[in-house]
Amino acid sequence: MKHARMLATIAASSLLLSAVALAETDKKTERLWKAKCSSCHGPAGAGDTEKGQQMKIVDMTTAAFQAKKDDELKNAILNGVKTEKGGVKKEMDSFKGDLTPEQVDSLIAMIRSFKK
Ligand code: HEC
Repeated sequence: MKHARMLATIAASSLLLSAVALAETDKKTERLWKAKCSSCHGPAGAGDTEKGQQMKIVDMTTAAFQAKKDDELKNAILNGVKTEKGGVKKEMDSFKGDLTPEQVDSLIAMIRSFKK
């Protein structure tokens, strides 16, 4: 009986610990997004910033954007973007040397949470 309760306590606290660890990663990714991405893409990916409007940056919360493959998103983050559409230059720096593969993956996961 005593033993079972102890096991339950251990199970409960390790659950709690992994939840805390997850929340920590999310906070780090949020900070990363704020520091490196939101000046163009906006806090929630809608592109509602001065630069976003100048470059008519895509709204990441739309279904059309969310239909893109992870590889496309990853490619843009690693290699940057340099295109012109309707006379509007769209440019994003490459973040290849700036982010770890884990950071790139967690940024993509965060972008996937940008839904209306
Ligand atoms: C200087 C402004 C700027 C910054 C800073 C910026 N981006 Fe971008 N990003 C752009 C522009 C411009 C596009 C192209 C948008 C379009 O096609 O409408 C883009 C497109 C994207 C795309 C979509 C690629 C596709 O296939 O359509 C992703 C994903 C992305 N950015 C992620 C990020 C992440 C993650 C960061 C931060 C690490 C970031 N961006 C920082 C300007 C920026």
